[in-house]
Amino acid sequence: MTDTTPTYSGPMRVFSGVQPTGNLHLGNYLGALKKFADLQKAGHDCLFCVVDLHAITLPVEKGALVSQTRQIAAAFMAAGVDPAKSVIFPQSAVLAHAELAWIFNCVARMGWVERMTQFKDKAGKDAERASVGLFTYPVLQAADILAYKATHVPVGEDQKQHLELSRDIAERFNREYGAPGFFPLPEPMIQGPGARIMSLKDGTKKMSKSDPSDLSRINLIDDADAIANKIKRAKTDAEPIPGTVEGLEGRPEVANLVGIYAALSGQTATSVLAEFEGKGFGAFKPALAEVTVAHLAPITARYRELLADPEGIDRVLADGAERARAVSEPVMQDVRRTVGFWGA
Ligand code: TYM
Repeated sequence: MTDTTPTYSGPMRVFSGVQPTGNLHLGNYLGALKKFADLQKAGHDCLFCVVDLHAITLPVEKGALVSQTRQIAAAFMAAGVDPAKSVIFPQSAVLAHAELAWIFNCVARMGWVERMTQFKDKAGKDAERASVGLFTYPVLQAADILAYKATHVPVGEDQKQHLELSRDIAERFNREYGAPGFFPLPEPMIQGPGARIMSLKDGTKKMSKSDPSDLSRINLIDDADAIANKIKRAKTDAEPIPGTVEGLEGRPEVANLVGIYAALSGQTATSVLAEFEGKGFGAFKPALAEVTVAHLAPITARYRELLADPEGIDRVLADGAERARAVSEPVMQDVRRTVGFWGA
């Protein structure tokens, strides 16, 4: 028998979020920001959110949220997101996120959330002392996406499990409330060599804001000298560059550097390997530094320029919040009615 359950028939809509915690790095750029700009350029309807409600699941330095929120908004724009086309906004300015998260807390099952590996990583050994918010964090992430009925979510590979949870929550809501096709099952967009950028010091660990060594990552605010120095000091091995992708097996640091080169130059790993086959790192690293600086320098310059005008960023955020509310409020009206609340 064929499945006749109605599927979602609304428009394609892109949503993603970035936490206002610490400096953005090359992993955030290639895994997320660059894709945001590419999707907007392809003409899609996009919302990009600075997820400050997510940021408070861990302690935040007093008074730091506002400037960190502006920094992320500036980074979106510096990476090529145009606020006239895409909606850039702070999560806390749109109440729908918190409201829908509560409803989804009652849809998601304990067992689903307990499986989330990011909670285990972030809570560490002392999970008993972690905030309840850190535990239900992925449920809020589902609400972020579904408050806009977003269908596509560009993220790095580390968000895959959270996106699967969002699909499970959407599916269960639709079933539990007898509303087939109400929410779309959002598609993660994780493809490409930039989806998983690793630490420059350890090719088995992802590049991360929280790594104590600054040499492990390239920050979006690093200047050309800092970038060249970090690439020069990046971990490699004694073998030359292989000619095929199979030759990268068991060489995570080399695979990572080749992946970065490919992502920044818009090539496949195969074509990068064809160009550098048999060469040593004395030749490859300077070439990688050149490609990285050439790509990032204009973005960094624009980022600094934007940060010099905080009022300008605030105007973008205020306008974005208003547009985001206009999209999510009708969805929330339908959600309240579907759940069966008084007055809805
Ligand atoms: P966050 O703020 O940790 O990271 C922002 C984005 O950067 C990607 N990323 C990476 N990509 C490739 N290589 C890396 N080393 C790397 N490190 C980080 C992340 O995958 C992410 O796309 N939970 C999310 C924020 C969020 C969200 C959402 C995302 C909240 N609500 C709704 C999408 C949709 C997070 O903490 O990302």
